[in-house]
Amino acid sequence: MKTFARLGTLFVGASAMLAASFAPRQTFDVPLASLDLGKMRVQPAGGRGGQTQTVAQANKSIDGNPIRIGGKEFTSGVGTRATSVLFVNLNGKAERFSAMVGADDNPMALPPNAAGQPQAPPPPTPIVFRVVGDGRVIHVSKPVARGDAAEPLDADVHGIKTLVLQVKPVDGSRPVAANWADAKFTVNGSADEAPVAIDIPIEPRTILTPKPGPAPRINGPSLTGVTPGHDVLYKIPATGSRPITYGATNLPSGLTLDPSTGVIRGTIASRGRYLVTFTAKNSAGAASKPFTFIAEGQLALTPAMGWNSWNAYGRAVSDSLARAAADAMISKGLIDHGWTYVNLDDGWERSARDTDPLHEGPVRADDGTILTNKKFPDMKALGDYMHSRGLKFGIYSGPGPTTCQRLEASWQHELQDFLTFAKWGVDYLKYDWCGYSSVLAPGETNQQLPVLKRPYQVGRAALNQVPRDIIYSLCQYGWGNVWEWGAEKGIEGNSWRTTGDITDTWESMAGIGFRQVGNSKYASPGHWNDPDMLVIGKVGWGPRLRDSHLTPNEQYVHITLWTLLASPLLLGNDLTQMDDFEVNLVTNDEVLAVHQDALGKPADRVSKKDELEVWARPLADGSLAVGLFNRDEMDMPVSVRWDELGLKGKQKVRDLWRQKDLGTFDGEFSSVVPRHGTVFLKVTPQ
Ligand code: GAL
Repeated sequence: MKTFARLGTLFVGASAMLAASFAPRQTFDVPLASLDLGKMRVQPAGGRGGQTQTVAQANKSIDGNPIRIGGKEFTSGVGTRATSVLFVNLNGKAERFSAMVGADDNPMALPPNAAGQPQAPPPPTPIVFRVVGDGRVIHVSKPVARGDAAEPLDADVHGIKTLVLQVKPVDGSRPVAANWADAKFTVNGSADEAPVAIDIPIEPRTILTPKPGPAPRINGPSLTGVTPGHDVLYKIPATGSRPITYGATNLPSGLTLDPSTGVIRGTIASRGRYLVTFTAKNSAGAASKPFTFIAEGQLALTPAMGWNSWNAYGRAVSDSLARAAADAMISKGLIDHGWTYVNLDDGWERSARDTDPLHEGPVRADDGTILTNKKFPDMKALGDYMHSRGLKFGIYSGPGPTTCQRLEASWQHELQDFLTFAKWGVDYLKYDWCGYSSVLAPGETNQQLPVLKRPYQVGRAALNQVPRDIIYSLCQYGWGNVWEWGAEKGIEGNSWRTTGDITDTWESMAGIGFRQVGNSKYASPGHWNDPDMLVIGKVGWGPRLRDSHLTPNEQYVHITLWTLLASPLLLGNDLTQMDDFEVNLVTNDEVLAVHQDALGKPADRVSKKDELEVWARPLADGSLAVGLFNRDEMDMPVSVRWDELGLKGKQKVRDLWRQKDLGTFDGEFSSVVPRHGTVFLKVTPQ
């Protein structure tokens, strides 16, 4: 392959003589395809988190076919996929970057579906080609989709040192085959100054938040919802040097506090609102916090915080892994910041048809009681273990005959199963549609609202007969705009998944998170949008764990955005292996106070300028939590005007991740936000 096509002539005359000892300066073309394409980050075609990483192709489409755009074949160029990113060092020596860009004519082969059947090619999805240089957007193509003619692109890159070439879908995160056809740099310099593909610069794992001091501080929400007559368990989360002595004044009768652990247990007999004051004392000082028990039968008045086994262990979850997660939630100090639930996902049940000896066996006892598999010798003991340590316990089932892992689910055993769960001490139920599709009557589809609602109505009716407070978490991937009806009478979901399954890539996480525009109006205390569980830390969906593919800044975006969205925060990583960075990320009490804010009003988008977004959420104290987000590939300034936030005059601005006041600002605030990063602010009227 030809690397340099010489266009220009050598400089002549005095300068050439002067430069005799240097490589000669000339104008020449460098095809993009001649660069080290292994440096291009290409979104996998499918599958989970980079397991099928692919390499961009020189002079071929990503699938190895000739490059074809809008019926025209190109013999040179780079075949890649949206989303993909390439960083190029131009040395300031390139003049232009030009290409014919477009989606490949060949519909991308999708991996077989869960049942092993081939999938139909996806509909044409619009994508854009972006050129970004030294923190400035240089060119954004018009959106093009499969079948459209190639778009000419000719960008002035004069003086640019670092250039980014990016292809991305206009919406969502569906991968699309994309081509930079005839792509080349025109360089004016010496041959050794030609553009070079470089690694994506990844920032260090910087800890932003100062450690809590030795004096006690009481964290967590300012209220909790319970049902009169049902068991109450509330652990007062507090930081500060140990030992701490806890107190509570005006505790309603029926509740008792263990002063050495801060765990409150018992029942509240009558309906009402009970205002109490928590106290915490240690050798370094004392703290107090007003708190309200709202005994009106409404649960999850602030979104749940905890852990779920799925993104870490998948169906390899076991009793001992769940106990280890609980132990780590305590030993890593998460419990002191309000982390509470330890939830089993799929993988605790049996299947008569399973080939895995761990899951096989009769699925129910003679009386119909659901049985646990070999990894869970005693579920009641496991629930007791959680409760004895001040934690809560969650489980997973579904309204169909089987779960997503084809293990036993609760079809026609709803009440019986929920009563069993209550006996085990379950506090949280994730109820996953999956197998329900197999029991639809002829003519019924998952496009019909009454059909979509039915299993969750049956579930709610059963749950109402169970004498225990159990959070009801709907999981049906956002079908039928579940956010519009998940809270309605007769369903009363405490949360509902708004999307399909998340995975630990920027495309997946950011795609899901930033797509939640307009959903804030459907959530309220007790009823939350759930854009799926967290993918920071060590994840793996099975026995083998690895580090999340999210960069450090992407992990800050993940926690910031889910906090703003008032989504349930369910860690999906191996808690026992959390390092200081990860612990810091999930134990910033000012960030978590936004998540647990009593007003219960999630953020919505305030502005979007290309890849820069601002989201804001009103807080109970009259201030606003504001996230500045940079979804672009280079650090860029992001600004927000007070009038966009409905504010006037001077505002105090605090950096929540650094827990640092930034000063008083009139009219607007602006800050450089790192690539795929965030600045998270609290804005308070002066
Ligand atoms: C999926 C669900 C995941 C996980 C999995 C278990 O349907 O969305 O969150 O629960 O099932 O099989």
